[in-house]
Amino acid sequence: MGLRHLSIRQFRCFPAVDIELSPQINVVEGKNASGKTSILEAIFLLSRGRSFRTPHLETALRQGEEEFYLAARIANRTSIVDVSLKRRNSLLQPTVAGKNAATLGQLAAIFPVQLLDGQANLLIQGGARYRRQFLDWGAFHVERLFHETWQKYHRALKQRNVLLKGNRHGNDISVWDAELAQYGEKLSRMREQYLRDIYESILELTKRTLDGVATSIRYVRGWAEGSSLAETLQATSKRDRLLGTTCSGPHRADLVIQVNDRPAQEIISRGQAKILAASLLLAQATFYQRQLGASTTLLVDDLAAELDTEHLTVLLQQIQEVGSQVILTTIESQSVVTGSAAAVFHVKQGNCVKML
Ligand SMILES: Nc1ncnc2c1ncn2[C@@H]1O[C@H](COP(=O)(O)OP(=O)(O)OP(=O)(O)O)[C@@H](O)[C@H]1O
Ligand SMILES: [Mg+2]
Repeated sequence: MGLRHLSIRQFRCFPAVDIELSPQINVVEGKNASGKTSILEAIFLLSRGRSFRTPHLETALRQGEEEFYLAARIANRTSIVDVSLKRRNSLLQPTVAGKNAATLGQLAAIFPVQLLDGQANLLIQGGARYRRQFLDWGAFHVERLFHETWQKYHRALKQRNVLLKGNRHGNDISVWDAELAQYGEKLSRMREQYLRDIYESILELTKRTLDGVATSIRYVRGWAEGSSLAETLQATSKRDRLLGTTCSGPHRADLVIQVNDRPAQEIISRGQAKILAASLLLAQATFYQRQLGASTTLLVDDLAAELDTEHLTVLLQQIQEVGSQVILTTIESQSVVTGSAAAVFHVKQGNCVKML
């Protein structure tokens, strides 16, 4: 299950690539600058409608070309769906099953893709938005009403903030408070539930990879404990007016991650942060499988970077045990990595060839 077939046209250094992938571990190997990350970028783009490398997608057009085209065949529990994404004249056009799709979000729903790359430590060591995105990605894929709730909350938040910026002394912000409070509470409950759903898996995974370090994670919802969001919005409206923005609500939420009762952000090493981030993603993949009976596709760029052989081996074991589809890149001849592969691809001079 997951990504079966990938086609890339005029994207980065690739004129044309077509590959068949394994539903288990796929290894993409090649020298520096051969195009490994570009393959992951193409897959990520097909799912998320954006690149993890750049907001300027024109830089991803193969030099001298005017459009790129990416296509994938996705197998889920009950069906096989073809999706594609074309960029031409600065526009991204997605298709699903041969028909134009109205939104990029339709691709995300069909093709859940996770990313562990050189920035993975940000999930632990970066700002709160990385952790909110982590929760929201997971809840989006398993909770039917999540997307709608998220959108309604953010629409109300945007409108309230427009009023706060434009009219600092008026009292008309309250027209959005009821909606903001209703969807904010709901959004928060869904995130909390989602964290509970994946929590056991996280602890199990980190027990082995973090050498017995005790991990704990707590959701902090973005407004005062013991008060409803409606009460808080009312109580803090003066401050909101002064600052011209809404200061309370799930858009200010965070995950407090601790190791051995101390803030992970401040004490763990980069290697440990990468391992912890991998555990969080693998816990999501496990839960997705359990809930939906289908596989996510985990993209791992340069898995071996920052990891010693021992930790790399344990992490690879865990990836194998989770059993979802993984596409990972490595520089040439790293047998620890290629040894776990169900399929190996070699990337060279704008081409990608299946070796195993
Ligand atoms: N728009 C483009 N058109 C043509 N070539 C491009 C374009 N964008 C990037 N490249 C080139 O594509 C090559 C592959 O880049 P990529 O980052 O995918 O390599 P990589 O195999 O991941 O390398 P590393 O091992 O160093 O991470 C690079 O030589 C890069 O300069
Ligand atoms: Mg790379």
